[in-house]
Amino acid sequence: MPSILLVTASPYGRASRGAILAMQAVENLRQRHPSLDVVERDLSALADATIHSVYADAIVGGHSHDEEVFTLSEQLIRELEEAAFVVVATPMHNYTVPASLKMWIDFVLRYGRTFATVDGIKKGFLSDRPTLVVVTAGGIVSGTGKFQPDHLTGYLRDVLATIGIDDLKFIYLDGLASPVRAEEVAIEGGDAIARDAVFGRDEATHSHA
Ligand SMILES: Cc1cc2nc3c(=O)[nH]c(=O)nc-3n(C[C@H](O)[C@H](O)[C@H](O)COP(=O)(O)O)c2cc1C
Repeated sequence: MPSILLVTASPYGRASRGAILAMQAVENLRQRHPSLDVVERDLSALADATIHSVYADAIVGGHSHDEEVFTLSEQLIRELEEAAFVVVATPMHNYTVPASLKMWIDFVLRYGRTFATVDGIKKGFLSDRPTLVVVTAGGIVSGTGKFQPDHLTGYLRDVLATIGIDDLKFIYLDGLASPVRAEEVAIEGGDAIARDAVFGRDEATHSHA
């Protein structure tokens, strides 16, 4: 059953500012595609999951996909495979993705399952699909006022491309440490989503067509 997958990576889960904005996109998609179910994957609820030695051995040893060690990995991969649209809300933690999202990546990028090396090139096994990433940050990480490195955007592009997902859009809700800017970027982010041809409101995108 195709779905809309919402992945939230903030320690605040659904209450995070990124998730609140991301849910606007999910709601627009739901209205435009009423047959799709919404699947929510709150990574803050997986705080105990980790890549342990049994899992590492199974990856390196090429164990069968149906082994118990891959249960969580299979579940996360299937959620992604079944998603017609993906919306990710992630904070920036120390210039890159938070540990929870890194863990999701480590369970989803599985050699021989979601990608492999073919003729010296990594080939993704998932079909491409529209994916929106809402990035929240306390400081400014995009545009003219940017004052710190961004190892999140390029990294996320590279890992998702590895499994076949290239159709990515990023929205930055940054500079949130300033309450004035936080209010401004929340409005701008909401407008950008509303206008978007894929993730936007039906009537808003038609009036801009
Ligand atoms: C461990 C940790 C590391 C952080 N590192 C950064 C950082 O490198 N750059 C930045 O701008 N903000 C950083 N922040 C601030 C978060 O990005 C900020 O609180 C974000 O707005 C949270 O958004 P949310 O409500 O969606 O979780 C960090 C916060 C935490 C808890």
